[in-house]
Amino acid sequence: MKIDFNNVDLSNLNSYKEKSLEAFSSLMNKDGEGNDFLGWIDRANNLDMEEYERIKKASKKIQGNSDCLVTIGIGGSYLGTKAVDYAMKGYFPKSDKTELIYAGYQISGEYLYELLDYLKEKEFSINVISKSGTTTEPAIAFRFVKELLEEKYGKEEAKERIFVTTDRQKGALKDLADKEGYETFVVPDDIGGRFSVISAVGLLPLCAAGIDIDKFVAGFRKGIENFTKDSFEENEAIQYAAIRNMLHEDGKDIEVLVNYEPKLKYVSEWWKQLFAESEGKDGKGIFPVSVNNTTDLHSVGQMIQDGKRNLFETVIKVQKADKDLTIKEDSENLDGLNYLAGRDMSFVNEKAMEGTIIAHVKGQVPNILLTIDDVSSESLGELFYFFEIVVGVSGYMLGVNPFNQPGVEEYKTQMFKLLGKPGY
Ligand code: PA5
Repeated sequence: MKIDFNNVDLSNLNSYKEKSLEAFSSLMNKDGEGNDFLGWIDRANNLDMEEYERIKKASKKIQGNSDCLVTIGIGGSYLGTKAVDYAMKGYFPKSDKTELIYAGYQISGEYLYELLDYLKEKEFSINVISKSGTTTEPAIAFRFVKELLEEKYGKEEAKERIFVTTDRQKGALKDLADKEGYETFVVPDDIGGRFSVISAVGLLPLCAAGIDIDKFVAGFRKGIENFTKDSFEENEAIQYAAIRNMLHEDGKDIEVLVNYEPKLKYVSEWWKQLFAESEGKDGKGIFPVSVNNTTDLHSVGQMIQDGKRNLFETVIKVQKADKDLTIKEDSENLDGLNYLAGRDMSFVNEKAMEGTIIAHVKGQVPNILLTIDDVSSESLGELFYFFEIVVGVSGYMLGVNPFNQPGVEEYKTQMFKLLGKPGY
């Protein structure tokens, strides 16, 4: 992975260097706010190997008896999984592998109705994931999907098909799992939801879907090696955090994450949650948005080029396309495309990216270019870890606790009042 800041004016960067190093040192020394939620920093070098083996064993069992694994969770309990799964499974999967189907990440009755209908014809298992064990969206979905599972297989076999990932000791889901005898996996106490893809939260469903979790973990380990270096010059995560904060103080309130490989669409969704829930508090924060190009160049591209100059971009470039096509010569050339004959699609896409960067930089949109080798579980693991370190440093520089999410409670309180939940 490499990062290029050539399209940012760095003349003021020196004044952010010290602050970014202080923030980084608070993160590494675990003496800043939210320091009881920093278990993710060295988790990949510190896995619970007994649980890791159980994850592999449970995945084999799921693969052996299920067409689908219904992965029930919201926010950090599903976005990392979805990001890797979506990037790795291909646009038109023809695979005989166990498919991950997501539920409990919204409250649509239509979605659940159609899901239950779809599942009737399928062999399936459930992985319900909630750190608190009390979140409404997954709790409702679990109630419905479990009912169907029990109807289909009977209560005893259903127990063999339900896997619960939750707190080690507490919460409604933990109590339910213990009472019913479901196999449980742990969301570690010191890892918050949006940092939890490196725990059983992400590893179990990804492994069940046939993704190489050893490589995913190896990517995180590479991240630890590269982005925990205590040196501004050698650590691009510290540099990036410093530059984001410099741009923000210069009036850039929005960061746009851009990809030219739409397989990364849910990586952007994961990234949005990571940055929004970590930084957006106390009236502060850089608003994270994302675009998939070139699709969105024909949509919000206009705004990026020409709208209010309050944004900067981070572009993710994939160095090596896994699959490619070469444009052929056409004897009639009625579409006028022969000037591209002999060119690969990846070449055309790269020129679209380079052209867009030139245009946006000309339009006063500072541009950061982040290159990953390929779309593999290893590269994604390293990328995730990079952004996690960045958000920790960046949040501390901003003066917020990046590891809580107090604002998420407000909608719940209002919703529970309207729903008549006891105690509200
Ligand atoms: O990052 C976070 O902590 C949140 O996004 C949570 O993951 C999300 O709210 C789901 O919480 P839980 O896993 O407790 O159901």
